[in-house]
Amino acid sequence: TDKQGYRHYMMKEIFFQPDAISKTLKGRITKDQVITKEFGESADLIFSKTECIKIVACGTSYHAGLIAAYWMEKVANIHCQVEIASEYRYRKSVILDNTLFVAVSQSGETADTLAALRTAKDAGYLSTLVICNVDESSLTRDSALCFLTHAGTEIGVASTKAFTSQLAVFALLALHIKKNNMQNIDYAKDTIFQSLFEMQQTMRRILKNSKKFEEVAHSLRDAKSIFYIGRGPMYPLALEGALKLKEITYKHCEGYAAGELKHGPLALIEDDIPVIALAPYDENFLKILSNIQEIKARNGKIILISDSKGVDKAKKYCDQTIVLPNTNFVTSAILYSLPVQLIAYHLAVLLGTDVDQPRNLAKSVTVE
Ligand code: M6R
Repeated sequence: TDKQGYRHYMMKEIFFQPDAISKTLKGRITKDQVITKEFGESADLIFSKTECIKIVACGTSYHAGLIAAYWMEKVANIHCQVEIASEYRYRKSVILDNTLFVAVSQSGETADTLAALRTAKDAGYLSTLVICNVDESSLTRDSALCFLTHAGTEIGVASTKAFTSQLAVFALLALHIKKNNMQNIDYAKDTIFQSLFEMQQTMRRILKNSKKFEEVAHSLRDAKSIFYIGRGPMYPLALEGALKLKEITYKHCEGYAAGELKHGPLALIEDDIPVIALAPYDENFLKILSNIQEIKARNGKIILISDSKGVDKAKKYCDQTIVLPNTNFVTSAILYSLPVQLIAYHLAVLLGTDVDQPRNLAKSVTVE
């Protein structure tokens, strides 16, 4: 738990992510299968019966759930709904048949998530599953099933390695539940398994070139406000990018679904409100490209994070570009998390905020 030469815990935890992911995946996948022995046979019965998933969490863990919902519906062909724990616990909700309740939490002690799980236990769900980084936490003790993320202790208040490990666990869950679902579509299964296997190396490659993220942070220093935009799983990652910037740099930032810009926020665009577009070259790319053009036409400043194909197509509209390796529908959100975290980190260092212990926040929110 020391900083091991890093200036902040957050930086150490960002750079530990290749190892954290490999710990998360260790012993849990072969080249074309997810291994679920650790859950026992009763779990397989539950997974095979699951027709819907309800994910409940707070903050960054909630964003992991939102990303997972895109995967569950596309990869596993399972209906998936995600909700903020503090909302869920106080409202009446309708539970569809054979719904698996999933609570997500780094700490396992978040008061609202714990209360939501306790409410769910007697509410008629098929079963409860907790995705958590802390064994022997209140959440793991209270849930029927538990999927540990094994990311190691996270000390920085801003969640980084716990988030990408939660995503890796969700990827496994989507791939596994899909296997047991008779009506599934065979969505790029081989590509996803292969890219999970290569995840550690790909993350290392991104982190090696982290200088570029520092340059982006410099360019954001005087921004009045900042936007993150994305489509598909990149939309919740845009929310996460905005949360990271807010919590450690204290700068105002909003995450938006790129298609929503024209329904209001486009009015805010001017040259001191930069927009960071998270846009791998995928089925959404041409749509987000036209959003980028709309922003440019209003003198907005665009920072594009994409792969080489995406950057080639869009660079004439962008002020800065960052090239990441090629990804797929599942691994893009995991890999694009790294620039999002590093941009927030470097900007916080430049602005001199308390990176590891931002004002007014606690690592574990055990009260309402
Ligand atoms: O421990 P949890 O994952 O349940 O915590 C939930 C949020 O408080 C947490 O993710 C928070 O949003 C992060 N520290 C933000 O980086």
